[in-house]
Amino acid sequence: MASSLILSSPKPLSINPTTSRSHSLSATFSFNPARNPTFTPLFSLSSATPVKPHSKSVFCCSAKPRTRPEYIPNHIPDPNYVRVFDTTLRDGEQSPGATMTSAEKLVIARQLSRLGVDIIEAGFPASSPDDLDAVRSIAIEVGNNPIGADGHIPVICGLSRCNKRDIDAAWEAVKHAKKPRIHTFIATSEIHMQHKLRKTKEEVVQIAREMVAYARNLGCPDVEFSPEDAGRSNREFLYHILEEVIKAGATTLNIPDTVGYNLPGEFANLIADIKKNTKGIENVIISTHCQNDLGLATANTLGGVSAGARQVEVTINGIGERAGNASLEEVVLTIKCRQDEMGGVYTGINTEHIMMSSKMVQEHSGLIVQPHKAIVGANAFAHESGIHQDGMLKHKETYEIISPEDIGLFRSNEYGIVLGKLSGRHAVKTRLTELGYDISDKEFEDFFKRYKEVAEKKKRVTDEDMEALLSDEIFQPKVIWSLGEIQVTCGTLGLSTATVKLVASDGEEKIACSVGTGPVDAAYNAIDSIVQVPTVLKEYSMNSVTEGIDAIATTRVVIGGDPSITPKHTSNRETFNRTFSGSGAAMDIVVSSVRAYLSALNKMLSFVTVVKATRESSESSKTYHNTEQNSE
Ligand code: KIV
Repeated sequence: MASSLILSSPKPLSINPTTSRSHSLSATFSFNPARNPTFTPLFSLSSATPVKPHSKSVFCCSAKPRTRPEYIPNHIPDPNYVRVFDTTLRDGEQSPGATMTSAEKLVIARQLSRLGVDIIEAGFPASSPDDLDAVRSIAIEVGNNPIGADGHIPVICGLSRCNKRDIDAAWEAVKHAKKPRIHTFIATSEIHMQHKLRKTKEEVVQIAREMVAYARNLGCPDVEFSPEDAGRSNREFLYHILEEVIKAGATTLNIPDTVGYNLPGEFANLIADIKKNTKGIENVIISTHCQNDLGLATANTLGGVSAGARQVEVTINGIGERAGNASLEEVVLTIKCRQDEMGGVYTGINTEHIMMSSKMVQEHSGLIVQPHKAIVGANAFAHESGIHQDGMLKHKETYEIISPEDIGLFRSNEYGIVLGKLSGRHAVKTRLTELGYDISDKEFEDFFKRYKEVAEKKKRVTDEDMEALLSDEIFQPKVIWSLGEIQVTCGTLGLSTATVKLVASDGEEKIACSVGTGPVDAAYNAIDSIVQVPTVLKEYSMNSVTEGIDAIATTRVVIGGDPSITPKHTSNRETFNRTFSGSGAAMDIVVSSVRAYLSALNKMLSFVTVVKATRESSESSKTYHNTEQNSE
């Protein structure tokens, strides 16, 4: 194999330290989604799982399993059923820095299907050829193949502005799904119509009516319409435009609080008023879409449900434009916990898959939730103070309204299983299955090699260690460059140096030496001199996943830099530089850092390849940079 020796000069490394993860009681929890991913009853505390039963009382989530009603676009046979419309892959991906590759979106879409969401908004196909491709792949695969034994297949939806080109692109992408949906929107508030659209009310109504009819006439049986900025729109005008789109064939009317301005009571009244005053409303589903600018997205969404909305638009971990969206886990768990107080409403979400879904979205989007995030934060089930711990030990429900098992977390110390260097394949595989990871034989073999390396050095391999290694092995982009070997010298006597050997996907090996301000900087410089693409390190953080000197270190980095990837933002049309996140895990902090950097680089390189290929091959590449709003 050819090897090359390349030397490069130092460049500064910026490090944003983050707070380390709490090691209070939270460290004793691990994921526990259903062990058998094909077993997905609604609202189940799966009997197929080895989770120890926990006592239930009136204060803990205790909703009974229900059957999901048949899907009819404009009608729900059970009036208590609330559809969950997940927009993690569309609105969620609009979060700054949350770029995901098509492959990552497909993985998340599969997980959303396993979780039991009713509708997956898979993207905005007109925004770029690669987004169209991503939505199409999801429609073909996830939109046709049930993942759970209940046979559930989600609706696959694509977003479009109210113009023919967008709608054509959305239909082109979603039409392959068994249950396709087009979601089209146009702004209806005075401020948006006047300053953004520069159109009169009459023009806006006409466009909306014609475009909904156009989408239906393409053959799409399910068309959702959103009056953007409904939360600040004139009521009478809203009733009017909604009546017109109902006549034109809309099946769902989504009411967005686009700027997160409404108060919960206000938003509930808006839904109630629309329900009361819009002719034909009984023939469609009312939906909520609440942004989180004032931190009210979940409250507003629940207000909407109480007032009669039967679809909620949410994202995993609440990611989304600016301050994000209503979070799926908060809305669903509240409905589950307070079902009786909310008039008996229920969803089809299998909550045991929530933790895994949250974890996947964190890994792929690079947006890590804060430790105190409701439901899925590292501290959500941690009890630090003595009084709380005393109460918990006496009776769990003193301080716990949700059982961790309900979202796929379990108390690992209840199992009493200790894995170490003598553990064999069977024990390790069994443990992974118990943790909810359903991986292929090849993935397991790769994982097992890493497991053995760690087990040689650590007396006890914890669930957290296993998960960190799994993230490092499985939640990774396509490998273009992988780490062969690394050697660093560092200290106070001079510049740090690193020698790095990388292996390309075709097996070619390249070696480079470099100096840097520290060992990580030196290693990154060496990698840069081999890979030779412009990058800027935007964020770097490291955490240990367990306590002690032999803990595994997980590193996250965010990089940006390739000037050929400069799309325009969907809402304000400003050019932005895409960023790519990567994560790595190892007991050696430099190795962990290098793995994270390579993971982000691989993501960027495969993204650039796909963008370039689709740009060249697709006629619609002209639309890549186009974000003109709503003009025909
Ligand atoms: O926030 C918003 O208004 C939207 C619409 C497209 C539903 O995202």
